Amino acid sequence: MTTTAPKGLEGIIAAETEMSFIDGTQGILEYVGIAIDDLARNSTFEETVFLLWNRRLPTQSELDAFTQDIRSRYQLPAGLEERITTLPKTAEPMHMLRTMVSSLAMFDSDPNQNDPDSARDKALNVLACAPAIVAAFDRHRRGLPVVAPDSSLSIAENFLNMLNGEKPTATMAKALDVCLILHADHGLNNSTFSARVVISTMSDVYSALTAAIGSLRGPLHGGANEGVMRMLNEIPTVADADAFITGKLERKEKVMGFGHRVYKAYDPRATYLKTLAKQLAEDTGNQDLYEKSFAIEKVMEDAVAAKGIYPNVDFYSATTYHCIGLQLDLFTPLFAISRLGGWSGHVIEQLSDNRLYRPKADYIGPHDAPYIPIAERG
Ligand code: ACO
Repeated sequence: MTTTAPKGLEGIIAAETEMSFIDGTQGILEYVGIAIDDLARNSTFEETVFLLWNRRLPTQSELDAFTQDIRSRYQLPAGLEERITTLPKTAEPMHMLRTMVSSLAMFDSDPNQNDPDSARDKALNVLACAPAIVAAFDRHRRGLPVVAPDSSLSIAENFLNMLNGEKPTATMAKALDVCLILHADHGLNNSTFSARVVISTMSDVYSALTAAIGSLRGPLHGGANEGVMRMLNEIPTVADADAFITGKLERKEKVMGFGHRVYKAYDPRATYLKTLAKQLAEDTGNQDLYEKSFAIEKVMEDAVAAKGIYPNVDFYSATTYHCIGLQLDLFTPLFAISRLGGWSGHVIEQLSDNRLYRPKADYIGPHDAPYIPIAERG
């Protein structure tokens, strides 16, 4: 028998969704039919999450109630902050976030309920607590006191306030909010698929979201934004970008922040982030980072655009996050905070019409092999 499934399940449709639509050839991304650019310009992260979970935009009173509900859950459960502040300061934030999201289940008196209301309730808890978890750990490792969440602030404002101990400027809060919108959902990407696979066993929302975080941290997925920043730091000046990238391509190394399984055109999120990164770089005196990124893009365009390899969402988000003031290893946790909106929506969607995911593997090993006693093995 020969294997029929394409490697990496490329092109396989494994679920139906009403959340996001991607046309990888035209470079289109829509959430519930609304262009991502329109949402980035006009929506907020909270409203976008409502849209993804309910497949429609909220009325003002619905949005107010949803926002209030999230804000009322900002506070970490008693005992969790103490756990975070006793973790090794050297821990990777993504390992920390995965572990702490998992541990939220133990603070829930009924963690295994998967009916629609309970699933939303648990998803809201995780969405509301994740920024406080990341910020508390970052303050702890920097030897600073933890800043309590402020329920008068949006998710973006609250996150920056808890990280820095001061309210962000409107420009920085808006920039972060836009990043949260742009990263919130993206079809059946690897981490979303992981979440749907786990919940399809009727496990629990916390397990599904924990699995998704584990998937996201991989350098071929959400971890690429940190890889981009490391690369930018490795390139001494704009003038060195050409030789650096050409060398990578000659050695057949992947350039982080380029290429996508689905997009063979410019990722529409990258289009938006490029403009945002340029503006923020100018505002914060980080023009060199933007210019290096732009120089890399030019080299890649000449070398590999013909193969359909363009900047993806992670490329210009690295400069954007740096300008917002995030530590390099908080880039992927920030992505996770945003994608919790999408993962949760998919978990809810999967539960509404569930069937256990259980594909098959083609066995390609030997048959009728003898069991050789251990003493006789060579
Ligand atoms: N740099 C250089 N060459 C690349 C890149 C890249 N970033 N991406 C793909 N290619 C080349 C491959 O070398 C391969 O060339 P070949 O046909 O000559 O051997 C061809 O394009 C196909 O590449 P695959 O890795 O097979 O494509 P796949 O669809 O499996 O991979 C992926 C998609 C994993 C995103 C890939 O483009 C990559 O590794 N990019 C770098 C990591 C990255 O930025 N990941 C973030 C993706 S967005 C997200 O997950 C949020």
